[in-house]
Amino acid sequence: MNNRQIIVGLEERSYPIIIGQDLFKTRNALDDIGLRGQRFVFVTNDVVGPIYLSAVAECFLSSGKSIESIIIPDGEQFKSQDTLISIYDQLIAKRIDRSTTVVALGGGVVGDVAGFAAATYQRGIPFIQIPTTLLAQVDSSVGGKTAINHPAGKNMIGAFYQPKAVFISLDMLRTLPDREFKAGLAEVVKYGAIMDYTFFIWLEHNMRALLNREYDALAYAVERCCLNKAKIVEDDETESGSRALLNFGHTFGHAVEAGLGYGKWLHGEAVAVGMLMAASLSVLAGELEQSDWVRIQKLLIQVGLPVEAPDLGCNRYLELMGYDKKVLDGKLRLVLLKNLGTAYVTPDFSEELLIEVLIGVKQ
Ligand code: NAD
Ligand code: GLY
Repeated sequence: MNNRQIIVGLEERSYPIIIGQDLFKTRNALDDIGLRGQRFVFVTNDVVGPIYLSAVAECFLSSGKSIESIIIPDGEQFKSQDTLISIYDQLIAKRIDRSTTVVALGGGVVGDVAGFAAATYQRGIPFIQIPTTLLAQVDSSVGGKTAINHPAGKNMIGAFYQPKAVFISLDMLRTLPDREFKAGLAEVVKYGAIMDYTFFIWLEHNMRALLNREYDALAYAVERCCLNKAKIVEDDETESGSRALLNFGHTFGHAVEAGLGYGKWLHGEAVAVGMLMAASLSVLAGELEQSDWVRIQKLLIQVGLPVEAPDLGCNRYLELMGYDKKVLDGKLRLVLLKNLGTAYVTPDFSEELLIEVLIGVKQ
């Protein structure tokens, strides 16, 4: 099957996203883009590594590359300063220099922490992304956001640092647990809702095939999401404008994640209810039709994602939302929908309506 290729056009920082099946069964994908450099250090975790590291490494070896690896523990709690330092320690111990490329092999956690290590080690060494979760394939591996968490908040320390290439091998999704796969679908639905109405309709017709992880449906959806993400990143690499649209549902979602205690709900699950809360506010603001709110809800129900937000109490929600990075000059901005397929960042919104949404939350 032919691989698909998308270019993220950022002048001298441009890079390809290669999407295909069994990309690492042959060395073609690597040879096709003429991957530079000889020495590659894989960063992966103790769940993904045992499944995929040796096959992917074999492909690099057969392409004449030399490879080494760093294994970090699995889990969001390890997107931390301690993990970062341990990666630096190992890079130094291996005498890695600026001609070496870091390869992030894993989900968003591995991608974010390995990317940040690459961004900062010796003032920046090249890195490539091999995302293995649906969320990482449609979102986190593209666009150059890298970060670790701080006890005070998620992604508090990070950098914009673009990869040299992203390799998306769809077969890797076969081993992804169902709950993680569904959480990734929340971000897929998000692209339809904020910027791609045609894709939203396609999702309404093809969700069953996606849930069955059928190759054609997956390839189409992942490519469409990456095209949309590339468009946004090309327009606003460092999130001074339109990139904020990708945060649709995230301000509410982060409040849900933090309010329940990180780890109870997956990020995508919190984003699902967050999108519905933002859509509710859009309806109350007189922009979105109620019938479109119902369409988003139906799609999320079909995926099997939560559609009812936990009742944390209105004040707690407001407090948690106030901590968000999207607060500029003390003012909370939200991403709302004008209609299905068109989102905007609020210059202003009615606090009374927001409170109405939060009071309406039922368990
Ligand atoms: P994750 O990286 O924790 O992966 C989820 C789980 O699936 C982990 O246990 C992982 O080991 C396992 N896993 C990964 N691939 C697998 C596979 N193919 N088979 C079996 N198991 C597999 O979670 P995630 O949802 O991929 O990423 C979440 C992280 O991404 C968060 O830290 C979030 O902040 C970050 N994020 C970053 C961006 C960005 O633009 N940089 C965007 C969205 C999210
Ligand atoms: N996931 C949000 C962004 O990349 O901007």
